[in-house]
Amino acid sequence: MMLRSIHWRKNCLIIIDQTKLPQKLTYLCLSNVREVVEAIKKMRIRGAPALAGAASFGLYLGIRYSKAKNYLEFKKELDSVSHFIGSARPTAVNLFWALKRMQNKAEENREKPIGKIKEILLQEAKKILEEDRLVCRKLAKFGSKLIKNNDRILTICNAGILATVDYGTALGVLYEAKKQKKSFKVFACETRPLLHGARLTNWELKQNKIDVTLICDSMAGFLMQKNMIDKVLVGADRIALNGDTANKIGTYNLAVLAHHHRIPFYVVAPLSSFDPKIKEGRFIPIEERAPCEVTHLFFKRPIAPKGIKVFNPAFDVTPQRLITAFVTEKGIILPPFKENIKKFLNES
Ligand code: MRU
Repeated sequence: MMLRSIHWRKNCLIIIDQTKLPQKLTYLCLSNVREVVEAIKKMRIRGAPALAGAASFGLYLGIRYSKAKNYLEFKKELDSVSHFIGSARPTAVNLFWALKRMQNKAEENREKPIGKIKEILLQEAKKILEEDRLVCRKLAKFGSKLIKNNDRILTICNAGILATVDYGTALGVLYEAKKQKKSFKVFACETRPLLHGARLTNWELKQNKIDVTLICDSMAGFLMQKNMIDKVLVGADRIALNGDTANKIGTYNLAVLAHHHRIPFYVVAPLSSFDPKIKEGRFIPIEERAPCEVTHLFFKRPIAPKGIKVFNPAFDVTPQRLITAFVTEKGIILPPFKENIKKFLNES
């Protein structure tokens, strides 16, 4: 039933070019690390778990023709390719998690011939993709328990098939609930500036026959006030140890509104989205993107005076006190988050 937003075939990384959706479903074949970094920067591939997959294959592609004569030389190349990939987008921790995991794998096998280490890294990248498929299905099962018949669910950005390998986090919960024959409606925020909600979430939910209605970001409060929303489900790009959560810009607005209207607000994310090095949300690096994303409608039509000043942060941080619960592959994390997140991370 599901598409794959990213997979490995015939020595190439195949991705859906998400900048072309919803008009065209086109695939790109990436055969070197420069192409992978370009695709990440331009958001041809995006969404935290999908970025982990892209980063791991990007690292392999960056070293696959390495002529290093020993592990030290090879390690230098690995570090420099990792740094190059890490510079593509700063907020989603999954990208860095995947790079670290690949680097650790190389380190564990440092005594082996370089050719063998390359092969091991390719296998590890494949494993990262395969695990994402399983993890998304597991967390979707836990999350589906939260969905009741006739629920009206609000979401932002795209935390679905396109943001993962093939199932999604927040939207994976909805696919699972649909499998269980629950009936519900979804409202999808358009998600300015690049319309990842309007273009991507609507496209994939419609493809999968889920009842979805598009709204502008500024309409969310109106819907909540009119009692048209029962719960909010979002993904995450990086979660601090206290539960503060970075996700697409506009998520914080929804959390404040949901809190005001006493609507449950759930973050659905794999444990790889939790950053063990970050204690609180204020330390999460927030990506700032080019002004043309705001001044032009999808880079094409200008909608603001030429030369206007622009501020374009791609993510915001929702304080943990506004979050009802986290849905992960190991189960649902309830408050107090600081203690419970620690337990979940230590058990994994
Ligand atoms: O800028 P994007 O489109 O990469 O931002 C994506 C999001 O904010 C998603 O909600 C998040 O990565 C979770 S995806 C399962």
